[in-house]
Order: sequence, then structure tokens, then C-alpha cells
Amino acid sequence: MRTPIIKAKQLKKKFFSPSPIEVLKGIDFEIYPGESAAIIGKSGEGKSTLLHILGTLEKPCCGMLEICGQNSAHASLPKLRNRHIGFIFQSYHLFDNDTALENVLMPAKIARVPTHSNSSAYKRALMLLELVGLQERAHFPAKLLSGGEKQRIAIARALCNDPDLILADEPSGNLDSKLSQEIHSLLIRLTQDFNKALIVVTHDKDFSSLCNKTWLLKDGHLF
Ligand SMILES: Nc1ncnc2c1ncn2[C@@H]1O[C@H](COP(=O)(O)OP(=O)(O)OP(=O)(O)O)[C@@H](O)[C@H]1O
Ligand SMILES: [Mg+2]
Repeated sequence: MRTPIIKAKQLKKKFFSPSPIEVLKGIDFEIYPGESAAIIGKSGEGKSTLLHILGTLEKPCCGMLEICGQNSAHASLPKLRNRHIGFIFQSYHLFDNDTALENVLMPAKIARVPTHSNSSAYKRALMLLELVGLQERAHFPAKLLSGGEKQRIAIARALCNDPDLILADEPSGNLDSKLSQEIHSLLIRLTQDFNKALIVVTHDKDFSSLCNKTWLLKDGHLF
């Protein structure tokens, strides 16, 4: 029997302050290796909240989340994240004073694998920078990069540890259409060719049409 890369059962989320709001009212799905899903929905419907919960960065109020067969309630979350999940945030979250390359290598450093200039992690980070078209910016501090360049560094960083699950929150929001298309096809290709799972929040119809499923998040439910 195939194990889903991610399985969610009745995930719910409420925030209590500044005013109570029930954002997620029961989210159920399974995604298997090689599959991709796009999440669409209006601003404020809870897309980023859902992605943060799926990435174990926020806790649901109730429900069950399994990543690669491990129940998140019983797992070491930093390990689970570092080994299995690559997260591309809506607002990048780069270390401004570190270089592009150091930012891409961050997940490898957290995993305590060697990152010196002869290491395979270092070579992979350079390869990822090339994939996102930024090899010539490798030694630039992140704070000097443009918005679109930061976004591409964040994408390369998410792929550093070769994660099983890629969660991406509007990963091409700041890119021009040619670069967006390249990033979209890269993410889809990685998912299909390397049996990963991709869940992406996007307003880009071309991108969602490349995914196996498109879900609308509305009133706390996926449709
Ligand atoms: N930590 C928090 N505390 C209280 N309310 C929150 C918190 N985080 C998010 N919210 C609220 O939850 C709702 C969903 O927010 P979320 O950021 O998930 O929306 P979104 O669908 O990603 O929107 P956008 O498309 O604008 O990025 C919003 O009303 C937001 O104000
Ligand atoms: Mg959002």
C-alpha cells in the first residue's frame, strides 16, 4: 500500500485574538508521491494559515496531520521539517546579512551535514542557485537582492535538503512572467520526476492548471 506524503484529517484552526475567528473548519486530503495541488481562494480565507499548519509551523486546534507516515503529534517537529519539508514563504524570511549561498545552505547547516566548499551540500546549493538563475549572486548579502531575486533564493533554499514535500506560498508573486513560468515548470518537474509532493498557494491560473488538483479554500473548507 502506498503511503501518502501528506495526509490531513479534520484539521481545524481558530484564532482567539484580537477577535475570535474560525479560519479552518475541517480540512481533509491526501497527497501521494508525484502529485501536486494548487490552493486558490480570496485574501484572508486562510491559505497561508493552512500552509503553515501543513508545514508544522503552526499547530491546528484539532485534527490529524501525517507527513511521510509520521503523525505530527508524536514526531520531533524540527527534524520532521528539516528532513521532509521545503517551505517557500510568502515573505521569503531570508537572513539579510548572510549571502545568497549561505541562505540556500541553511537547511543543510541545521541538519549538520558538511557545508564546506568541497561538500556535496555546497555543490548542490550552487546547482540550485544556477537552477533559479542566480549563480552570479551567490556571494551577495541577501539584503542587496531585489524582491524577485530574494524569492528565487527562498525557492533554492526550500530545495536544499531534497525534501519530499514542497509547500509554496505564492512562490512567483514577485517574478515576471517568463521567470514565473520557469519556476512553475521547475517545481512541477521536481514533483513528477522525483516523486515529491507539491502544495502551492497561487493566483496564477497557468500554474494551477499544471497541478494535478486545484482546491478552492472558502469558508474554512477545501472544495
Ligand atoms: N496569528 C494570527 N492571529 C490572529 N488572526 C490571524 C493570525 N494569522 C492569521 N490570522 C487571520 O486569519 C485569516 C487568514 O489569514 P491568512 O494569512 O491565512 O490568509 P490568506 O488566505 O493567506 O490571505 P492572503 O491571500 O492575503 O495571503 C485572516 O483573517 C487573518 O487576519
Ligand atoms: Mg497568504
